[in-house]
Amino acid sequence: MTIAIDFDQIERDTLTALTATTDSATLQKWRIANLGRSSPVVAALGTLGTLSKEERRAFGQRGNQAKQALEQAFEAAAQRTSQAELTRDLAAGSLDVTAPGRRRGRGRLHPATQTLRRIYAIFAEMGFQIYRSRDVETDEFNFGLLNIPPHHPARDMWDTFYTTTPNVILRTHTSPGQIHVMRERCPEPIRVILPGMCYRYEQITARSEIQFYQVEGLAVGRHITMADLKGTLTAFAHALFGPQVRTRFRSDHFPFTEPSAEMDVECFVCDGKGCPVCKQSGWLEILGCGMVHPVVLENGGYDPREFSGFAFGMGPQRITMLMHKIEDIRYFFANDVRFLEQF
Ligand code: DAH
Repeated sequence: MTIAIDFDQIERDTLTALTATTDSATLQKWRIANLGRSSPVVAALGTLGTLSKEERRAFGQRGNQAKQALEQAFEAAAQRTSQAELTRDLAAGSLDVTAPGRRRGRGRLHPATQTLRRIYAIFAEMGFQIYRSRDVETDEFNFGLLNIPPHHPARDMWDTFYTTTPNVILRTHTSPGQIHVMRERCPEPIRVILPGMCYRYEQITARSEIQFYQVEGLAVGRHITMADLKGTLTAFAHALFGPQVRTRFRSDHFPFTEPSAEMDVECFVCDGKGCPVCKQSGWLEILGCGMVHPVVLENGGYDPREFSGFAFGMGPQRITMLMHKIEDIRYFFANDVRFLEQF
């Protein structure tokens, strides 16, 4: 039986249709119509079994030739089409590969956190552990056990937030942590820093916030002297501000230390020559410190005849303000990226 199919005709017609195709949807339709299972060429090749031996050879050869020609033409058209579609898309402007990329907003640490972490690292090298102490305190820990009895005029130094629960307050300084750590560690020697938030019922101004960080320090042991205090704090100042910076200690008063001092560092803005940042003095006040008062040692469980210690307290935000010449402490909590992204 002869099959009435003209492969030459089919090749001519289908290949002409293919040349006109420029989109992949039409191309797929063409593939199904001309190379699919029920397309004329493939269907004709499917009938080979019904042909006589002599017919089968010539018909099969020509049929396969035609099929291959269609397949090759299809591959070429597919390539041409996808290239044409890409060019069209680019021209339509859906993607401009030459446009500069959009920069991603990158997070970073808050300037106060950066200073805190530098302080931690410096004291860690000197063997100080970090001790976390509570923000909500009792009157006793915040004042009484630190040698500040009720009605003592020294309480005027700290304007306190009282809660509705009697004697429960927000800590005005990190010093009450000294009592907690001593009671926990006694009679072991202690070398800790106590960072954290403090709260004061104050007018908010460029120089004072109602909440701010402090970093307290405490060393307790046998034979600790004022020389250890000065050596440790001078090493700290050199590590934070540079080895060339000079320091000085001025006597001061805190109820929980005896003797007490303030440590100043040479103004690193003007190298001690005098400028607006140091108010022409050449010195910047950095922290309060002193030898732990015998009463405080005793309140922590240590016998002051056997043990001694030193303590200090600093405001890392104030230090950050000095280092970066930040003029207003309110920026720290204002959450304004224009401020934050500068650090
Ligand atoms: N607690 C003091 C304050 O808030 C700072 C301070 C001064 C802490 C001297 C100390 C110290 O441990 O020895 O103003």
